[in-house]
Amino acid sequence: MTPTLVSTRTRLRPFELADGPAYLRLGSDPAIIRYTDNHGLTSLEDALALMARAPLHDYATSIYGRLAVEWRATGEVIGFCGLKYLPDLQEVDLGYRFLPEFWGLGLATETSQTVLDHYLRQGQTPRVMGLVHPANGASARVMTKLGFTEADELVLADLGAVAFRRFYRHLSP
Ligand SMILES: CC(C)(COP(=O)(O)OP(=O)(O)OC[C@H]1O[C@@H](n2cnc3c(N)ncnc32)[C@H](O)[C@@H]1OP(=O)(O)O)[C@@H](O)C(=O)NCCC(=O)NCCS
Repeated sequence: MTPTLVSTRTRLRPFELADGPAYLRLGSDPAIIRYTDNHGLTSLEDALALMARAPLHDYATSIYGRLAVEWRATGEVIGFCGLKYLPDLQEVDLGYRFLPEFWGLGLATETSQTVLDHYLRQGQTPRVMGLVHPANGASARVMTKLGFTEADELVLADLGAVAFRRFYRHLSP
């Protein structure tokens, strides 16, 4: 079942269709998608279609799925964070994105740790992978702070054939 989790400053819960505008910004702002997507979303319609194909589909078919991150002080959706099963790689992947005005506050680390603690308690996820664009220093630093170890490189053909840095963390009680 898709979890709802609470961290010191945030609440993580499943995306809903009402989050369309926030999901659109997270998938279209050039600063946010610089190291993740080749093409940004261009309309609310696109955003809702992707939400249906990605997180909502993941919630329905697995125990994983990226979660909307709400800023507890206001209830505003400020990003996403969560695990996702990647069938092609047969790996469980950690992903996170935040609005730029919330960068540098430790939120990627705080929310990821909350997510990892949850799945560690569940005991069903032996290891988690993270893929980081070689120029994404902030994300690589988050990986290290979370206790991930760099393993190798993986070329993602649909993301400009760039060799992404692959990190792993084993989840054992
Ligand atoms: C990557 C991202 C999620 C980081 O979020 P965040 O909440 O700012 O991360 P945190 O504050 O928890 O940690 C960032 C760390 O990286 C460091 N950092 C920031 N910019 C850096 C850079 N260019 N190079 C190296 N380290 C950097 C910070 O100093 C901090 O480390 P510290 O705590 O030791 O000082 C955020 O920048 C983002 O949403 N980027 C766009 C989407 C994205 O790239 N997602 C990741 C895809 S793999």
